Order: sequence, then structure tokens, then C-alpha cells
Amino acid sequence: MKFAQFLLKSSSVAGIPKQVERFAKFSPSPLSMKQFIDFGSANACEKTSFVFLRQELPVRLANIMKEIDFLPDKLLGTPSLKLLISWYSQSLLEIVDFLEKDPDDKDVLTNFTQTLVNVRNRHNNVVPTMAQGVVEYKDAFGVDPVTNQNVQYFLDRFYMSRISTRMLMNQHTLIFDGSVNPAHPKHIGSIDPSCDVVEVIKDAYEASKMLCEQYYLTSPDMEITEVNSKNPDQPLHIVYVPSHLYHMLFELFKNAMRATVETHEMSLTLPPIKVRVSLGTEDLTIKMSDRGGGVPLRKIERLFSYMYSTAPSGKSSWLVFGYGLPISRLYAKYFQGDPAALLYGGLRHLRLSYT
Ligand SMILES: Nc1ncnc2c1ncn2[C@@H]1O[C@H](COP(=O)(O)OP(=O)(O)OP(=O)(O)O)[C@@H](O)[C@H]1O
Ligand SMILES: [Mg+2]
Repeated sequence: MKFAQFLLKSSSVAGIPKQVERFAKFSPSPLSMKQFIDFGSANACEKTSFVFLRQELPVRLANIMKEIDFLPDKLLGTPSLKLLISWYSQSLLEIVDFLEKDPDDKDVLTNFTQTLVNVRNRHNNVVPTMAQGVVEYKDAFGVDPVTNQNVQYFLDRFYMSRISTRMLMNQHTLIFDGSVNPAHPKHIGSIDPSCDVVEVIKDAYEASKMLCEQYYLTSPDMEITEVNSKNPDQPLHIVYVPSHLYHMLFELFKNAMRATVETHEMSLTLPPIKVRVSLGTEDLTIKMSDRGGGVPLRKIERLFSYMYSTAPSGKSSWLVFGYGLPISRLYAKYFQGDPAALLYGGLRHLRLSYT
């Protein structure tokens, strides 16, 4: 029995390169916010979603696995990368398994949803694991500008692929799990068709403030200015994924608070973080400014680098991998937003497209 299982296992592992080749021939089909909404609202059909995803998810996984293959051997050889590749292989096989299954069978649909939940959980730690691999590589072999550029190009695509694949899986599992989200009945999967921007800003501020208080025993206040040029005097609502917005803002607040507190260590009062939100006809702009001294223009590019900005461990309990900004920029880009999460002289500028 054990032997049969072993054979089964090794033959399926041996099948991976074949599956990668098979699905990497297709290009991923990007979906717009409008498509997500249209698909998830009126006549959301689980069967259609299943038929789409059992092909689309392997295409996305296989495409990124092909790119992983091109990484330097020394990076691929790190324990972290080996672990990560095993997750991708396993998930690819689990989803490909559904290609032969009958979409009219209710049990198949239920199993598929469960498989997506398992895949999502398996990939929870992809970002720190990949980052750890990069650290291991860097510690052993150092960094040069060419490697930095190649790794930057790859990681931007890799993390973006992860954001979009997770979005697809989340939509399916949230929409078809048979229940309505009691806290947010109007949400379409993870999308809030009427996302209250100021509320998300306040939530992200509070969470960051809590961390800041724990670490520095103090924190700056926040001042919000709202401008709604679309519907003056109305609250600012956009169609968006609140968790993405929260993620970006939380990262920006953490940075702004740290810069403020560390620059004003000796003063009795801290200058507040100013946030200006404006809603135009097509997009939303959030500008955050702090008085933490800003960043010299010369260093801006480095802040978005995965290899160079990897924080020296132990500098601060907040510092994980220095991925706050580069990953936030990907979230901003994901729905055609302007990635200009810029930092000139302490000003951060986030423009999101919500149509
Ligand atoms: N508001 C700011 N004022 C001054 N410097 C900033 C500001 N925001 C970011 N920086 C600089 O940019 C660097 C990179 O920021 P980023 O958020 O990407 O990583 P991190 O904060 O170092 O680590 P992590 O966000 O992963 O905990 C910071 O270490 C800091 O030097
Ligand atoms: Mg940060």
C-alpha cells in the first residue's frame, strides 16, 4: 500500500513539468473591476466560475512557475525556494485534477471550493518565504545591480500574480460558499461596491497607532481633509476591495509614524500626519504627509527594491523585510491605479482607479 502511494506520488510529481508546459502556453485572462462586479452580482453562476477557474488558475500558476524556473540556480537552491516550489506544484496538481470532473455534479463544485480554500491557506506564507529565500541568497552571495534588477522584475510579477490569483480564488469561495456575509451583505466577494474610504483610513490609522504606541509609547495624531468633487458634501465612496486599501494605508501609516516619532524624539509634541482624500470623476487620490523628514530623491528608487531595502534584522520590531512600499505599490497598480505611492519630502500619493 505504501509503495503504491509512493508511486502515485512520485508519478504525479514527475507530471509537473508536463502540466507547467501545457498551461504556460496560455496567457492569463485579466479581469477588470467591472467584470468582477458583473460576474459576482445578478446571476452569479457557480458552474461558470468553476469552468473558468479550473483552466485559468492552472494557467496563472504555470506561467509564474515558468518564470520561477529562470531564477538564478543559487536562489532556486535555497530551502525557502524549494518549499515554495513544492507549494506551487501541489496546488497546480490539485486544481488540474478538476479538469476531467463533471461541472453538473454538486459534489464536484463543493470539493472545488474546498480545494481553493486549501490552496489559499497553503500559500499564506508565500511573501515571507520568498523574502527569506532572497535574504539567504543575499547573505551567501551578495547583491550586484544586475541581480537586483532581475530579482526586482521577477518579484514584482511574482507578487502581482499572487495578488490576482488570490483575488480570483477569494471571489469564488466568498460568493459561492452558500452564505451571505452578515457584516457586509452588500459586498460582492471581497469587493465593496460602496467602500467608505474615510472609514478605512481611520481603521488603518488606529491599527498602526496601536503598534506605534506599543513600540514608542507615543504616536502622532491624524488630520483628515475630504474633498468630494464628484458629489460635494457627500461621503467618499468608491467601488474597491477594502482589504487592499487597508493594506496600503496601514503600510503608509506605519512608515509615517515611525519617521515622525524618530525625527521628533526630543520634542514634547509630535506633528500630526495629514491625510487629504479627494474624489474626482474617475479616480480617488489619497495624499499623506508627515513631518518625519522625508526621503531624499536619490534614495527613492531603492525604497521599492526588494533586494536593497531588505531591512537589517533587529533594527526595529516593526521591520520585517522592507516590503511595505513595493507590495503596496502592486496593490495600487492592480486595479489600474497609478502606482505613484511616491515619497518626495514626506508626501505620499496614492491614486486609485475605481471604475
Ligand atoms: N514617511 C516616510 N518618511 C521617511 N522615510 C520613509 C517614509 N516611508 C518610508 N520611508 C523609508 O523607506 C523605507 C522603506 O519603507 P518600506 O515600508 O518599504 O519598508 P520598511 O518600513 O523599512 O519595512 P516594512 O514596511 O516591511 O516593515 C523605510 O525603511 C524608510 O527608510
Ligand atoms: Mg514600512
